[in-house]
Amino acid sequence: MASLKICEDTFWVGVNDKRDILFEGLWPITNGVSYNAYIIKGSEKIALIDSVDKFYSKELLANIEEVVKCSEIDYFIMNHIEPDHSGSFEAVIKEAKKAKVVSSQSGINFARSYYGENFEAITVKDGDIIDLGNHKLKFITAPWLHWPETIFTYDTLSQALFSCDAFGTFGSIEGKMFDEDIDKKFYESEMKRYFADIVSHYSQYVLKAGEKIKDLPIKILCPSHGPIYRKDPKYPINLYLKWSSGKDEEKVLIVYGSMYDHTDEIANYVENKIKEKGIDVKSFNVCKVHPSFILPELIDAKAVILGSPTYEASIYPPITNFLEYVKVKSIKQKIFGVFANYTWGSNIPEQIKNRLNEIGMKVIEPMVLIKGRMKEEDKNKIDALIENLFKVLKD
Ligand code: FEO
Repeated sequence: MASLKICEDTFWVGVNDKRDILFEGLWPITNGVSYNAYIIKGSEKIALIDSVDKFYSKELLANIEEVVKCSEIDYFIMNHIEPDHSGSFEAVIKEAKKAKVVSSQSGINFARSYYGENFEAITVKDGDIIDLGNHKLKFITAPWLHWPETIFTYDTLSQALFSCDAFGTFGSIEGKMFDEDIDKKFYESEMKRYFADIVSHYSQYVLKAGEKIKDLPIKILCPSHGPIYRKDPKYPINLYLKWSSGKDEEKVLIVYGSMYDHTDEIANYVENKIKEKGIDVKSFNVCKVHPSFILPELIDAKAVILGSPTYEASIYPPITNFLEYVKVKSIKQKIFGVFANYTWGSNIPEQIKNRLNEIGMKVIEPMVLIKGRMKEEDKNKIDALIENLFKVLKD
């Protein structure tokens, strides 16, 4: 996909990444991801907003050259310095010789730590404006979306908001760039995963940014990952605000690991018992599903039932790994039920409880411990756990 006109004087010059397997080396991007960069051709000056992953530098420069000569660019605005947006920095500076780099003070500091001193910088604060002639670009500080240096750029003429990571999504753009043409269901699912994996740790800053832009007339929303929103620019903003609000849905997750199907049998029993109660339940085997796909369900679930086999007298490592993701992403407190099974080494319910408490989660009783395969008498213990879970959910 080459350059694309978004509105008068404004062009997408980004790229689609279908090469990388893991975003940030952590998150599967089975459906790819886009790195959006933009050119605004003002009546007097030209600005490039953000760049792309280093691997795609040549493609970026070729896309820019379809719209303007790189040597004509006056301002290289860096909303965010993470290398998925700044990786082409040196390639851009080499060609855009007169461009001044525009970012927040910490953005310029970060850029110098990556790319050295050999560029001219302009630091901007909240409300500062850069004049392109007819287009005037106003800067809005948006710290922690998703690094501390981040800014948004707002074009007062086109009323386009360039929000970088905020309101972005996984999923590359397959020839359909605008929200009026896209498969909304697909991108909403990928957006929730992107939000949970990348942004949710900073939910309070999403709410602050939402307050800041609530009265801003936005005709076009241009994030740096995923589609551009011209028909309904508030749609991704409202989704981000909803997911950041901390409001849970009437939903229970079962998250478990299983080596020889014995824990799987217990998880199936738990799932069916919860379904009988008419509660929305989703079940994930961490041996088969990456945490990237579980976190989006976790952020708005009310409760989790966690199941682990015993492994070397400890918690099963894939469960420990999942809990590490929950900790790092600062998922807010959820109610946890616990079941475990073992052949030898039987203290893991306590180990799981301690780990859950350490990461701020509440554990309800009874924790269920099953020796060998699940038997009829074990089902009574699980039923008691589920009854208690419902009591807590209804409080
Ligand atoms: Fe898309 Fe935080 O970088």
